[in-house]
Amino acid sequence: MNTYENILVEHRDGIAIVAIDRPKALNALNAATLAELSKVVGTLAEDTSVQVVIFTGCGEKAFVAGADITEMQAMSATEARNWGKFGQKVFAAIESLPQPVIAAVNGFALGGGCELAMACDIRIAAENARFGQPESSLGITPGFGGSQRLPRLVGTGRAKELLFTADVIDAAEAFRIGLVNKVVPVGRALEEALAMAAKIASRSPVAVGYCKAAANEGMKVDLGSAIAYEAELFGLCFAAPDQKEGMTAFVEKRKPVYGTR
Ligand code: CAA
Repeated sequence: MNTYENILVEHRDGIAIVAIDRPKALNALNAATLAELSKVVGTLAEDTSVQVVIFTGCGEKAFVAGADITEMQAMSATEARNWGKFGQKVFAAIESLPQPVIAAVNGFALGGGCELAMACDIRIAAENARFGQPESSLGITPGFGGSQRLPRLVGTGRAKELLFTADVIDAAEAFRIGLVNKVVPVGRALEEALAMAAKIASRSPVAVGYCKAAANEGMKVDLGSAIAYEAELFGLCFAAPDQKEGMTAFVEKRKPVYGTR
């Protein structure tokens, strides 16, 4: 049963689908929605039956059209700082989920919506997806990590252009600059995300989890430390049953059968 007001949560064969559901405001993130996201992310982190998480938006028009401008309009500097910190915390929790996270982006992913997509590990965009950090047109900077994750994903030059101009780009351009992994026909983003999620779920959950940790943590430190961390995780794999199963299955010329996370 869905116990949330602004998000829908569905479980399908080890895959959790979290859909932002405020279509009247193009799924803009107000405080209530962000609080619900925070709650569901905490629950998913603990749920060992969930192998992959997908974030999407309800309706074809928007993934998330940003943080809720009507709520931010009258904020004081202190309120805005706290609001930003809360959003940053929720998106950091999404980024650090132990499971891989895919954004199925349908329609507008602007401001906080683009930031939500960037907090996910992988982005699949429908042809009607539109991306941008239009905050500079509103007199603000991005507040939920966009000024930091965007340059890390597309490089500083392209990121600064998007941040300074507030330009909105289409899915093809987002693919060209490396902001999204894949572009699919309108209405297919969730299906494609589910197909990728099913493939990921068939791999070793231990290995996939360590791959995510290696990539995430390695990006925060120098290459030498990152490489050393990889060696630790590589070693740990050999202490887990998945390595035995994976390599035995290869030698026995059969498909490996892995447990859950
Ligand atoms: N906050 C609150 N309401 C929003 C919203 C937002 N971010 N985006 C859209 N809406 C609302 C509109 O106000 C409108 O409501 P009403 O019907 O009550 O007037 C409804 O959603 C439909 O939107 P439009 O009529 O504007 O639809 P459109 O098709 O003409 O335009 C759009 C679509 C280009 C996405 C346009 O809605 C838009 O520009 N939205 C704002 C995008 C934006 O600037 N996002 C960044 C927000 S700041 C941020 O996110 C800061 C941060 O990092 C934390």
